Amino acid sequence: MPIVSWCDEYSVNVGEIDIQHQKMLEIVNNLHTAVEECRDKSILKGLLIELVDFTHLHFSTEERYMNEYDFPGSENHKNEHKVLLQHLDNLVAAVSSGRYPTFCSDYDVSSDWFLFHVSNSDKNLGNYLNTKGVT
Ligand SMILES: [Fe+2]
Ligand SMILES: [Fe+2]
Repeated sequence: MPIVSWCDEYSVNVGEIDIQHQKMLEIVNNLHTAVEECRDKSILKGLLIELVDFTHLHFSTEERYMNEYDFPGSENHKNEHKVLLQHLDNLVAAVSSGRYPTFCSDYDVSSDWFLFHVSNSDKNLGNYLNTKGVT
């Protein structure tokens, strides 16, 4: 069962960013399903690495928009990105060292972070970009 389903209220009204958020949620849900089904740690690690790689791509997309359109909140926003990347790195290290049992609760922190960040910081960025004519 998906931990989080995409709904329109998560939209930041910038197409490229919305599509990437949907892809991130898809990976997050695959990861959650793998944990629920007690899949092998190598599968979890593969999904986590997929999430880390895609998150890097996504953050560089948002940060490119921030730089291109001189977004005034970019410093705080970029710092929030660093926090999630650090958290994901910690999860990869934990799974690599065999910490399966606590993985699920650690992992839920990631999905909460994601939704909070999208609903607040990314929406602020989207609103700003909309004022610059970006959708
Ligand atoms: Fe962001
Ligand atoms: Fe985002």
